[in-house]
Amino acid sequence: MTGALKVGLAGLGTVGAGVAKVLRDHSQALSWRAGRPISITAVSARDARRDRGVDLSGVHFEKDALALAERRDVDVVVELIGGEEGAARALVEAALKSKKHVVTANKALLARRGADLAALAEAQGVSLKFEAAICGGIPIVKALREGLVAYEFSAVRGILNGTCNFILTQMEATRRPFAEVLADAQRLGYAEADPALDIGGGDTAHKLTLLASLAFGTVPDLEGVAVTGIEKVTPADIAFAGELGYRLKLLGVARRTANGIEQRVHPAMVRARTPLADVESSFNAVMADAGEAGPFFFAGRGAGRGPTTSAVVSDLVDVARGAFGPAFGRPAGELIKAHRAPTESRKSAYYLRFQVLDVPGVMAEISRKLADEAVSIESMIQRGRAPGEPVAIVMITHESPHASVVRALKAIAASDKVFETPGMIPMEPA
Ligand SMILES: NC(=O)c1ccc[n+]([C@@H]2O[C@H](COP(=O)([O-])OP(=O)(O)OC[C@H]3O[C@@H](n4cnc5c(N)ncnc54)[C@H](OP(=O)(O)O)[C@@H]3O)[C@@H](O)[C@H]2O)c1
Repeated sequence: MTGALKVGLAGLGTVGAGVAKVLRDHSQALSWRAGRPISITAVSARDARRDRGVDLSGVHFEKDALALAERRDVDVVVELIGGEEGAARALVEAALKSKKHVVTANKALLARRGADLAALAEAQGVSLKFEAAICGGIPIVKALREGLVAYEFSAVRGILNGTCNFILTQMEATRRPFAEVLADAQRLGYAEADPALDIGGGDTAHKLTLLASLAFGTVPDLEGVAVTGIEKVTPADIAFAGELGYRLKLLGVARRTANGIEQRVHPAMVRARTPLADVESSFNAVMADAGEAGPFFFAGRGAGRGPTTSAVVSDLVDVARGAFGPAFGRPAGELIKAHRAPTESRKSAYYLRFQVLDVPGVMAEISRKLADEAVSIESMIQRGRAPGEPVAIVMITHESPHASVVRALKAIAASDKVFETPGMIPMEPA
């Protein structure tokens, strides 16, 4: 493998143009690392004329990205178009079928079709690499797939979406409501014009699915993730969290339990001054419990041109070196179908917030309905007294079955003294 690795680059947006620039600007250093030059021979984007801020002279432009898969002067296709279906999926499949290696940052595509694509890559004798799909610049795929291989993982969890972490950090700092902070985040470029995938937890679920597969050797199981976004988090929840010694974070959590694999995405109370709680703004972090090797903590920038480009280029250097290996760390045929832990079997301590009418008997009623489901209270805050007016009551439960807490809250919500559906947020162990 002494000749150059020839790259066909699809997508010249935030990440694609960054990759093109780094491959040009750092070509000598990269060829030393890779053992041979890495050069772009062809690119594709929608607009052939747009200035991408990078010199692409001598590089062929394909109007149809699919043509990259057919070119004889392309060894590896880098897919940076994005989207679960359409051009991105068609290109990745066509490239693998044409025996081209594929490097992609497309978590949505892999979370749905990762196992099939990995099988196709193996059958064709080429590699499928996706370091940039999870947490941008953090080399977590490599760490899980190649670094921490001696023992079985028991859990992998983290702050996997920078937009949500930015919004929650800002809500905490400014005490402003979710909608206002989201609008600021969109203005500042931290949130997309359509933020649904980020704030609804879908993007975190995509990444968690891939992390769980790498950690547990399971078929990526997106449908098995229980997802709650951050849309309903209130400044009151964040203020109470602070008072109780916690911070509110959107977590993705995957655990191996006695009842099966648990995968969940939800806002969680994380004890203040612990590594996950200290992850600020748009940064990401992953904690991996790697058996006897112990717990590991990875943190860094999860998105943006620089970090994501760094991950794509790292994959290209691996391909240039001939470091292929199976996409998810074991042959695709050996990936196990995950046995899903039923939600009802989950246990946690919970933060509960009630907006109630300040009248005699309301506390007794809430306590009785919790007791009916054997949910016991560890601590409680009641804010102010305003006879006849709505007031907030916050409780932290002892560890309780998820299903019991849900049933108790349903019964409490039926009371004519309770305003709003009561809020329920799991307390995440440090
Ligand atoms: N941005 C990040 O920070 C980040 C972080 C992690 C992962 N990712 C992933 O990286 C991928 C790319 O993201 P991005 O932010 O770079 O997206 P982007 O800025 O929107 O760029 C997308 C590029 O794809 C091109 N494109 C769209 N449809 C095409 C088609 N049918 N054929 C050929 N080219 C087409 C666009 O062409 P035009 O420029 O001509 O319109 C554009 O250059 C996505 O999978 C994303 O999830 C991004």
